[in-house]
Amino acid sequence: VAADDFAKQVIQWQQVHGRNNLPWQTENNPYHVLVSELMLQQTQVQTVIPYFNRWLERFPDVQSLADAPEDDVMQLWQGLGYYRRARNLHAAAMTVVEHYQGKIPENADQLREIPGVGPYTVGAIRAFAFDASAAIVDGNVKRLFARLFSLPFLVNKSSFDRYFWALAEHYTPQSNGRRFAQGLLDLGATICKPTQPQCGDCPFRLTCRSYQDNTVTDFPKRAEK
Ligand code: ADE
Repeated sequence: VAADDFAKQVIQWQQVHGRNNLPWQTENNPYHVLVSELMLQQTQVQTVIPYFNRWLERFPDVQSLADAPEDDVMQLWQGLGYYRRARNLHAAAMTVVEHYQGKIPENADQLREIPGVGPYTVGAIRAFAFDASAAIVDGNVKRLFARLFSLPFLVNKSSFDRYFWALAEHYTPQSNGRRFAQGLLDLGATICKPTQPQCGDCPFRLTCRSYQDNTVTDFPKRAEK
């Protein structure tokens, strides 16, 4: 598929079939995006929603989170697991207050300096908060590309990440970055699922290499542990 064609189809599909009412999507507020993306790093959407809502009630903005005692922060995270994310989020708020007057930056180099913000989260904040043309790669995106092109890349080997990122950058459109990024995640989560993929509803079923070869569930490839 040509890159602009692929992007157009992802965007059109997202508009009709994607998720557009998640609580962190209502304002495109960079702080909301930061909080949700850290929560979603290892936790499912349905689990995150009530935690996200409680978090915003207690810490409505970057400043209130930066000012909060560590104990309060950890207590509100209680039950989500992977507690390093909570400490990172607290440190992130303090960094943003100290260096950026409480405003989360759009600039990728500045975002990279923020605790807990890796390459995926840099792209997610730029795309979701600022509607920037920013690539994102996570497990969903890797699976989608691996199946679409029958890629031999091992998704659990970080040495292959550069190939997934190069693909993601190639296919990311200049405009509508937010809807495109959301569309990739929504396709990965609701259609191109790890098991029981819903290929009959996929906008790419006619061009998907592995679907045409009847090998969808052979992808993505993994290295044995
Ligand atoms: N996982 C990570 N970010 C997400 C988002 N914006 N919507 C749904 N799932 C996500």
